[in-house]
Amino acid sequence: MSPLDLSVEELNGLMDTAMDIMKNPEKYSRACEGKVLATLFYEPSTRTRLSFEAAMLRLGGRTMGFHSADSSSATKGETVADTIRVMSKFADICAMRHPKEGAPMVAASRSTIPVINAGDGGHQHPTQTLTDLLTIRSLYGKLQGFTIGLCGDLKFGRTVHSLINALSRYEGIRFIFISPKELKVPDYITEMLTQKNIPYEEVIKLEEIMPQLDFLYMTRVQKERFFNEEDYIRLRNFYILDKEKMAFAKEKMFILHPLPRVNEISVELDDDPRAAYFRQVQYGLYVRMALILTLLGIE
Ligand code: CP
Repeated sequence: MSPLDLSVEELNGLMDTAMDIMKNPEKYSRACEGKVLATLFYEPSTRTRLSFEAAMLRLGGRTMGFHSADSSSATKGETVADTIRVMSKFADICAMRHPKEGAPMVAASRSTIPVINAGDGGHQHPTQTLTDLLTIRSLYGKLQGFTIGLCGDLKFGRTVHSLINALSRYEGIRFIFISPKELKVPDYITEMLTQKNIPYEEVIKLEEIMPQLDFLYMTRVQKERFFNEEDYIRLRNFYILDKEKMAFAKEKMFILHPLPRVNEISVELDDDPRAAYFRQVQYGLYVRMALILTLLGIE
């Protein structure tokens, strides 16, 4: 499942359901009674795995799964295709994270239960995007007409790739990509934007474009995606958002981040009312509850 598998109307419907769950959690507390969610995580996670599990538990269902490839039969050489065939006998729905791009799609093609992509390598992270869209809609009351800054590791940052894809389908969006040249957004994304006539700019310095931004999406430089440690060490602290830089921002320029954070946002900003990254986590729970209900066909 990718945000692009859903129409804008379906995305909006999912967010409406998430908002209703947020307002009336009791109404949904037994909606998934008797259902089982499998979380198959071949790569580390805190938020995504546990928010999927919390989502299913809050819907009255149950969960099972593994949290690392090491604790699964992948270590014995079992393929994702075989593992999902087995899981289809145990569970009603599955969330999968995998270091290899496309692995959840391979699983979905062999599965008899819905498979949700919970992040595949440096490719996509669709449910983080649903989280981000719901956060933006809740903060601003709309998803159109923004200048959006995306900053940090735009090359390997799967959350960024998914978010650009999803937002490119809304009206009046302009992107500003802020990264060192080594971590630029991939060509296939800028080509897609050019084809769709969506304006974008690529810059290196954060301060000079800050006054233009309606919101800023910060990302971590991901150690696990680098081929050599030297490059990672050179680039890891390239951007550090702090009070000094925020002085250039609009009064209502919210800061988003998929988390985990390392150094790229100074903790001194956590109490700034524009720091929305912990609120974002909460929206992730509700949108995953809405997604589970939708994929299981539960009203
Ligand atoms: N945002 C996100 O994917 O966090 P985790 O890696 O902790 O799941």
